[in-house]
Amino acid sequence: MKNYDTTRHVRGESLFADDFLVPEGTLFASVFAASIAHGKILSIDISEAEKFSGVKKIITSKDIPGQNQIGGIIQDEPLLAENEVHYCGQPVAVVLAENLLIAREAKKKIRIAYETLAPITDAREAYAKGMLIIPPRIFSNGNVDEAWKQCDVVVDGTIETGAQEHLYLETQGAIAFPTEGNGIKIISSTQGPTATQRAVGKVLGLPMHQVEVDVMRLGGGFGGKEDQANAWAAMAAVSAFVTKKPVKLILPRQEDMRMTGKRHPYSADFKIGLSQDGKILAYEITFFQNAGASADLSTPILDRTLFHATNSYFVPNVKATGLCCRTNLPPNTAFRGFGGPQAMFAMEAAIYKAAKKMGVDASVIQEKNLLKEGDEFHYGQLAKNSKAQACWFKAKEKFNFDQIKKNVEKYNAENKILKKGFACMPICFGISFTNTFMNQAGALVHIYSDGSVGISTAAVEMGQGVNEKIRCVAAEIFSIDKSKIKIETTNTTRVANTSPSAASSAADLNGKATELACKYLFERLVSFVKDAFNYSTTDPIAFRDENIFCNEKAIGLTWVELIQKAFFKRVDLSAHAHYAVPGIYFDREKNKGNAFAYYSFGTAITEVTVDCLRGTYIVDSVKAVHDFGKSFAKVIDRGQAEGAIMQGIGWMTMEEVIYNSDGKLLTDALSTYKVPDIHSAPKEIEIHFLENSDNPLGIFNSKAIGEPPLMYGIGTFFALQNAMKSFRPEKEFQFSAPLTPEKVLLSLYY
Ligand code: MTE
Ligand code: HPA
Ligand code: MOS
Repeated sequence: MKNYDTTRHVRGESLFADDFLVPEGTLFASVFAASIAHGKILSIDISEAEKFSGVKKIITSKDIPGQNQIGGIIQDEPLLAENEVHYCGQPVAVVLAENLLIAREAKKKIRIAYETLAPITDAREAYAKGMLIIPPRIFSNGNVDEAWKQCDVVVDGTIETGAQEHLYLETQGAIAFPTEGNGIKIISSTQGPTATQRAVGKVLGLPMHQVEVDVMRLGGGFGGKEDQANAWAAMAAVSAFVTKKPVKLILPRQEDMRMTGKRHPYSADFKIGLSQDGKILAYEITFFQNAGASADLSTPILDRTLFHATNSYFVPNVKATGLCCRTNLPPNTAFRGFGGPQAMFAMEAAIYKAAKKMGVDASVIQEKNLLKEGDEFHYGQLAKNSKAQACWFKAKEKFNFDQIKKNVEKYNAENKILKKGFACMPICFGISFTNTFMNQAGALVHIYSDGSVGISTAAVEMGQGVNEKIRCVAAEIFSIDKSKIKIETTNTTRVANTSPSAASSAADLNGKATELACKYLFERLVSFVKDAFNYSTTDPIAFRDENIFCNEKAIGLTWVELIQKAFFKRVDLSAHAHYAVPGIYFDREKNKGNAFAYYSFGTAITEVTVDCLRGTYIVDSVKAVHDFGKSFAKVIDRGQAEGAIMQGIGWMTMEEVIYNSDGKLLTDALSTYKVPDIHSAPKEIEIHFLENSDNPLGIFNSKAIGEPPLMYGIGTFFALQNAMKSFRPEKEFQFSAPLTPEKVLLSLYY
């Protein structure tokens, strides 16, 4: 797999925030954080720490020149705690020293006294105490209360899904440099350079033009750096601003795990009603979202939960309520899927419970209710170009569903302790930021006089391959070799007012902007050729493999020669373009509208084997038919699908974030927080690209791929439950994820 930066990665030459050489005199930062989850700060004594040899300065909230506020959507998050602390791990002070060891040692000398207050760690408890961040959000259609009367089967229940640690390989961090005229330049590991710029401007009290944010690449973000990179950049910036020295702040792994938010844990109450023949007639659900101590991105995440409440199914009567509950945990944040996975888990749980009551396989109900062409979602958008059924039936046929079913039944009849289970998992994920205004991007393309090309966009490379996709776009339009194209860092002075690379939309939005900018240049060059060689305006000029053609005949001019000629004739060889997704809108009062440019579809079939004596299990296979549109970077897209599936399986099965009742994180290291490794990977992953799919709203007719396949991981949960059911057919199992081996064992025997 030859990506844009594969060679540098393999040689260890790629630069991450921590790798940049810093000048003499740079200060190193260590963050002092709250050790309790809720309390009043009675006093902070930094005098001993300040005296520590090599310590240059200790920054507290008093040193912040602008506003002590980094809340992006809701202004409820101080950069450094002032009078109260609201979660364990909340930053209180920043120790600056001539080296990192000194900073870390000196930090231990800081004394803080609290009046401890009772912490709330549970969303339902927060709700009961009135701790809602925003009023309840309700998305609905039809009339559920009426619809129950028409239903032959009604079941209700609850679900729980756990948090998930992002565990990007590169921890959070930034380097801040004071610049001429009281400005600041920041190298940040952020998915959202503009959001970081804005937050830094606010805490420094500077206009945005005084703050430059530059991003080389991220060693993973997964949503964890969509909003939560800002704090560390802002702390480094305040430190640099106050000391007039460059400041480097990189979180050690354990502090990163303790101080940053995770995927939101959810608890939900559902009720589902069906007709005798398995048609879903009504669905009502209330989500309790554990937002943590401040809003962060919880509100748009909750909205996406409500959008995806019915997953891949058509339901005529829906009432989905979202409760954004404030607790004393680190603010939970974006994580691949952005609230969608929790919703889909709940929907699947409801279907499984109904299927059990009706005595049918869940797949029977799933299949009956898949979105058809033009079905209307509960928020009013139509499922246009629905591939829900195409993917489902293709998966059943291609992976021989009937045979899988037979094999599993036969295996379970023959084995007493080892049991197999399978599950189908259809997905439907809306592509667009649900905040319509965010669906825009920019590109700045320079062709240099030697024919090489440099491209800047708003896209941040975090391992998802967006740089390679953008390079493909430019190479295709100019018909030049990819080696001629460089993708520049993402920098707020070159492309301004950017949206974060998120919502799986970075390649679409920035690819489209790049396409436009390249087309502007292409048109300019075509006009130049016509002028310079006296062709008529209607003569078809084409660029192919670095040669210029007219009427299909090479005109004896290479790309490089063309660019040199154009330069000497004073043709502008730079272009900027802006792309805004057409046709989307959403009414936040009525909660209706066309929120998404398009949808991504697919179906996965998962098979597992459970050892019902030990509670251990293996995932035998995950086989999916996924709608990639027309993929133009198949290796990247397949890699995204496989990686997302692994991350989804981790969330559903083994990754368990545990806080104790005092709000202290117990799983704050890789010895206590287990992520899937090669031994827990499915023995087989097969991804089939759905044929005959088109998508004009995606770049080069492709479909966004970053997040949707994560939700195939949900199938593993239900495959495990199915295996458990064949060992204990009489038991009601809880819909409580992650389904760790420990939980499997306990629920089989207790
Ligand atoms: N893949 C890698 N390797 N690293 C990442 O951090 N982030 C995911 C996904 N795939 C991520 C990744 C998330 S949360 C999103 S939203 C998308 O990539 C963002 O990139 P895209 O918009 O270019 O798909
Ligand atoms: N997805 C990811 N990030 C976001 C979104 C979204 O829908 N809306 C705002 N930030
Ligand atoms: Mo992805 S959770 O939208 O960064």
